[in-house]
Amino acid sequence: MKSINVWDLPTRAFHWSLAGSIILALIIIGDSGPIYTIHAILGIVALLLVLFRLVWGFVGGEHSRFTAFVAGWPAVRQYSLQLLRLAPPAHIGHNPLGGWAVLILLGLSFLAAGTGVLVGGLAGATTARLMLGIHELAGSLLQFMVFIHVAAVLVDWFLTRDNIVAAMWHGRKTVAETSAAINARGGNVILALVVALPLLVLGGLIVSQVDLGSAPGRSTSQSE
Ligand code: HEM
Ligand code: HEM
Repeated sequence: MKSINVWDLPTRAFHWSLAGSIILALIIIGDSGPIYTIHAILGIVALLLVLFRLVWGFVGGEHSRFTAFVAGWPAVRQYSLQLLRLAPPAHIGHNPLGGWAVLILLGLSFLAAGTGVLVGGLAGATTARLMLGIHELAGSLLQFMVFIHVAAVLVDWFLTRDNIVAAMWHGRKTVAETSAAINARGGNVILALVVALPLLVLGGLIVSQVDLGSAPGRSTSQSE
């Protein structure tokens, strides 16, 4: 057996930071005071992380690129059938079904965080009310998808005996000595910092525009 690098450091740092910020944003919810401030800051961090990952999907390491894991229907179908027979093959990067789950997780995170920022002060009162509805829906769907995601990860680990959680932590996977798989190319940390820098500026701009003290959109829709 040999150990190869699969997930570059920026992808791993992104993943655990996104997981942490979203899980906390789903738990710490209030419409005013420090609870709301923490919720809004966690959400803005999540938004910046998703924007980073969108760019990283084009310039990041080999297995982190969208072209590496967004599979067509035939591959998804074949994988799903193997999964139904409880015999899914292990993959070096994301499996074909998991690739689509990644896009859904990123999309819902973007929708929740984006509408959150609009509710939080970037939209007028009427739009904010609509955005709050979408925000609440996106938050619920995201909660559901995270549950499915973690369950799918555990099922994959159990069925393939490939500890993909550890791989997302330290970046390496163990493959047969005869495997053609090699260390992933690309995924340079300096490049990740170059991508992150303008996003930090954007984060500063958003923080300067959003009301972090209380939820402006809430007062117009508090009916329950
Ligand atoms: C709010 C919580 C979470 C979100 C939003 C989330 C989101 C994501 C995303 C977007 C990816 C793709 C990574 C990339 O290519 O950049 C991913 C992969 C992954 N996540 Fe999570 N995640 C969450 C929680 C967790 C937790 C708690 C675990 C541990 C059980 C976990 C384990 C993994 C693993 C193992 C992968 C790689 C799957 C593979 O090998 O194909 N995630 N997750
Ligand atoms: C991915 C990031 C985020 C997630 C997952 C998230 C999730 C949620 C959830 C689940 C709720 C409760 C909805 C309900 O009452 O049923 C909520 C409420 C709210 N969120 Fe977010 N949110 C995020 C980001 C943000 C951001 C960035 C802001 C503002 C800057 C924000 C502002 C609000 C406001 C104003 C409420 C209503 C608070 C209340 O009435 O108690 N959210 N969010």
